[in-house]
Amino acid sequence: MPRLIIMRPLIVANWKMNPLTLAEAKKLFNSVKKEIKNVKNMEVVICPPFSYISNLNPSTGGQTPNLKLGAQNAFWDPSDNGPPTGQGAYTGEISPTMLKNLGVDYVIIGHSERRRYLKETNEMISKKIKTALKAKLKPILCLGETEKEMKRGKTKEVLENQLKEILSPIPNSKLLISNLILAYEPVWAIGTGNFCRSENTKKVLLFLRKFFKKTPILYGGSVNSQNAVSYIREAGFSGLLLGGVSLDIQEFFKIIKNLNRV
Ligand code: PGA
Repeated sequence: MPRLIIMRPLIVANWKMNPLTLAEAKKLFNSVKKEIKNVKNMEVVICPPFSYISNLNPSTGGQTPNLKLGAQNAFWDPSDNGPPTGQGAYTGEISPTMLKNLGVDYVIIGHSERRRYLKETNEMISKKIKTALKAKLKPILCLGETEKEMKRGKTKEVLENQLKEILSPIPNSKLLISNLILAYEPVWAIGTGNFCRSENTKKVLLFLRKFFKKTPILYGGSVNSQNAVSYIREAGFSGLLLGGVSLDIQEFFKIIKNLNRV
């Protein structure tokens, strides 16, 4: 596995639909900024709700080159300018270009919560990845099996099918190869406290590495300050996708500190 990927873990904080006010979002963001100022060997991506993005700037008050902004979703249609003529009129949606113009570099696509509550399909996810790449965003593609599928021993089959349906319609271009990030997030591990043990995630990672030699692959699902390092050091993931723990500033900093020693 390329050394560089292990040396500089990618830590993605998915704030989901939190916090409740802009003031809290700014406070959280500024604390992270202060904390990671002296942390050189990792890239931290904060993914706030859309409504806060334009108010959070990694560069104000001094450069923090290893702190980036990400979005939690983006729409698949790039027609985000010109009068609404039917095409390009998508009430409530945000295009990848709009995000790029706000200084966003990454976008989470296909999170299992969106698949579940918003009925996102592999076909929609595929189109979103394609449009995000065109807008020069780095898509973080979430993959993962449900508890039922895991219990039936279908994990690899499910992941292979998700990858096939999502990536085969996208040309295997340099753009895709150099920007795509994968996140293995077992659905049953997300927000449950029931994390997937690092030795089990390692098997999944080795399976994914057969197809993706250099693509960064993250683990996500109930990561906490006790188990975080094991996914990088023992299993060999390139980074982490953190949900709940990224809102608990003390726990989040513990993860950053522990990884900084890796
Ligand atoms: P969790 O969420 O860390 O709260 O389990 C992870 C995610 O939703 O990406």
